[in-house]
Formats: sequence, C-alpha cells, structure tokens
Amino acid sequence: LTPVIPSKEGLLNLDLEANYKKVFFGDRQGNLLSFNGLIPGPRLEAKPGDTVQITLINRLNQPTHLHYHGLHITPQGNGDNIFLSVPPGERLTYKFTLPKTHPGGTFWYHPHHHGHVAEQVFGGLAGLFIVRGELDELPEIKAAREEFIVLQDFDINPGMPSPMARMLGREGPIVTINGQVNPKLAIPKGGLLRLRLLNASPARFYQLKLEGHSFQLIATDGGAIAAPIELQEILLAPGERVEVLVKGDREPGQYRLVNIPYNRGGMMMMGGPMGMGPMGMGRGMDQTNLQTQEAQPLATLTYEGTVSPLPLPQKLIPVEALAAPNVTRPIEMSMAMGPGMTIAFLFNGQTFDEQRSDINSKLNTIEEWELTNVISGRIAHPFHLHTNPFQIMSRNGQSEPYRAWKDTVLVKSNETVRIRIPFRTFTGKTVYHCHIFDHEDLGMMGTVNIQSA
Ligand code: C2O
Ligand code: CU
Ligand code: CU
Repeated sequence: LTPVIPSKEGLLNLDLEANYKKVFFGDRQGNLLSFNGLIPGPRLEAKPGDTVQITLINRLNQPTHLHYHGLHITPQGNGDNIFLSVPPGERLTYKFTLPKTHPGGTFWYHPHHHGHVAEQVFGGLAGLFIVRGELDELPEIKAAREEFIVLQDFDINPGMPSPMARMLGREGPIVTINGQVNPKLAIPKGGLLRLRLLNASPARFYQLKLEGHSFQLIATDGGAIAAPIELQEILLAPGERVEVLVKGDREPGQYRLVNIPYNRGGMMMMGGPMGMGPMGMGRGMDQTNLQTQEAQPLATLTYEGTVSPLPLPQKLIPVEALAAPNVTRPIEMSMAMGPGMTIAFLFNGQTFDEQRSDINSKLNTIEEWELTNVISGRIAHPFHLHTNPFQIMSRNGQSEPYRAWKDTVLVKSNETVRIRIPFRTFTGKTVYHCHIFDHEDLGMMGTVNIQSA
C-alpha cells in the first residue's frame, strides 16, 4: 500500500529518491523505477496555503526532474519549473506555496526531463498530490469511503522501444492499479465509494466500466463540478483525472472494473501516407499492445459490511463562468517526417525549442485557444497545459454540456476543441504539450511566456 505523506502545520516536507527497483508480477521479475522504493510513489497531501518543500534525489543514471501536474503554482525558480535538471547522483530542493485560494483536487507529480519523460514515467515514476478542499467537507462526500486509483502499465523487460512504439506511444502488457494486478476494492452495502482516478500511463488510454454499477462524476482534473453527473463509462487519456461516486446498492457480490479497448489511432500506418508499408500496427497485431481486443479486468469490487443508506449529494461546488476572452489563438497539431524513420509531432508547424517563446500571454487576461488536430489516421492527442487550468468551451462547435476545470483534454483527429484559460497569479515561462509522453519527447511541446500587464 502506498504511504501517505501529509503536510503538518502548513508545511509538506519530504525527500523523494528516484531509483531502480526490482519487481515481481506473478513469476515474472524485472526492473522498474520507484520513488522512495514505491510504485506508484507516496501520496502527498496538502492544503491551500501550505508551503511545499521536496528534495528530489536522483539515483538514476540519467537526468531527471519533477513536475507538479495540475497545481496552480509558480513556474519560476525552484517551483514548477520544467527547465530545471537534476543530473545523476545529484539532488534539488523544490519549494513553493499553494495559493490560499487553490482548489482541492486530485493532482500528481512525475518526471519532466525533456527526452526522458516517457521512459521514466513508463518505469513507474509517478505519484498523487492531493489538495484537500471544500469538496472533502461536504457531508455526503465525507461519509463516503475514499479510494485512490493510480492506473499504470508496465513492461518489466522493456529494452529499447521500437520506432513504432515511440510513434504511437509505448504501452506495456502489465496493467496495474496502485502497482497491483487486479486488486480488490471494498464497498459497504448501502454506502458510497469515492474513487479518485489518475491515468499515470505514458500513452495507454483507459475506458472503464464497472459491472452492475454506474458512476456519478463529481470532479475532473482541476477539482469539483457543480453537481453529480451519471456516467456509464469513464474515458481517461494520459494525465487526466476524475473523481466518481459509486453507490453500493446492488446485491452483495463481486463486480469487475474492466478496461474496454479504445482505438486511439495508428491505422494510417497500414501502408498509409508514410510509405512504410504494413508495419504490423493493425488491430491486435503489435507487440506494444496498442489495440488490445478484449475488455480486461483491472480490479474487483466486493461488498463488505452494511451501512445505513447514504444519499448522493445533490449539489457540489459551483464552477466559475469565465468572461469572454481578450485573445483567441489557433493551435494546430500536425505531424512530419524527421530524419530516418523518425516522426515529429508539431504545434503550429514547430518542434519544441526551450529558447523560443511560442505564446506571449498577459497576466490577468483570458485567452481562448482553438486546438485543431489535423493528423489523420485517428491519432488522438491529449493536450496539456501547465500552471493555469482551463475550461472546455466546445468540441467541433458543440458546446460542452457542463462546466469543469481541466488541465488535459483529448483532441481526436479532425477535431477542434476550444478551451478558455484565465492567466492568473503567476508570471514566467511555462509549457503545453501532448501528454502521450513519447510525443512530448519527440518535440510536441510549446512554451508560453506569461508577463505582467
Ligand atoms: Cu503531466 Cu507537463 O505534464
Ligand atoms: Cu503537467
Ligand atoms: Cu500526441
């Protein structure tokens, strides 16, 4: 079980050591990567207004670095600054303060060293960063049983990923929840189970269904929504989080949480426009498991005990309506051939250059970005922005059915998604990128320089 490290008297203080770790899955053994010997890393818990001081100790043989995904904190200095680097054998202390108005929610930390992100996250380096807030104080939520679900997939003997695995994003055959294969989740008859889910895989998507039960969505990436929304399935692209409630109103027994295959693209490689011929990337043919055919059980929900029936909350936390944007920007996602067999994924025709400022934004303004994925072959890209959360306004012209704070949004091929971003509190240079980490490592990242007005 993953230990929890909470803040004490306004300070969250800890060391995180990134190191190799020998693991066993059944009779298979291999090497993965861990924080403090744990996969996933320890769950950190803080409150708005807390100071956070984390010393990262790098025991890997390559550079690494930490990012605090979804937190609204400074991108400068030793804060959430992705331009920092911790060489092998060295350490670095991050220090930042969560604004007093920081929303509660399910955030996380993971390495962000450009060029090594996919490999390190695929090794297991990721952990939850929970900010406690208003949602936790609602009586119905307090009465629910809380479980955290970190979704990760592994290949315990990965070797070098094939060019194809890099192009589509690497996936591993071992799919885990909190580092375990098919763990048990308990729910009391009559009770509520609050599941807080994170997709910490570098590329795998999860489309989840719970036998006999629906989900009540209560929070997205950036925290609570205004009222629960019933869902039959949850789709989580890499980097995304949701919180849901499950009602324990079925016959006591066992119910499987299953992952339904999701086609996230790559069909264009079948002798497609790249002129490479059939590379075995069709359905269910490749060694990276990109198109698994069958629904796969990930966990088993078991009824244990009985409580007097708990009601669902009717209302949660209101979500602010954003004013009209001061600026609108088109951002186009495309693909190009690099040298050899390499592929580059681009934003507005350019590959990542940390020296460049791709977007110059003004503090205390609101921008609307029109994200268009022009890549054919169904390759979907989860678009992620650091520092400031956003709201999805529309997808292909259809307005979004409810208001929610997000920091990662899936943009399917031939889709245009409009997002509205308030630039608040912090100046400095930050980034946006595709959260399929192979794509990010291949250059699908851009910079935003936020300046005071
Ligand atoms: Cu979780 Cu820059 O990413
Ligand atoms: Cu992030
Ligand atoms: Cu991508």
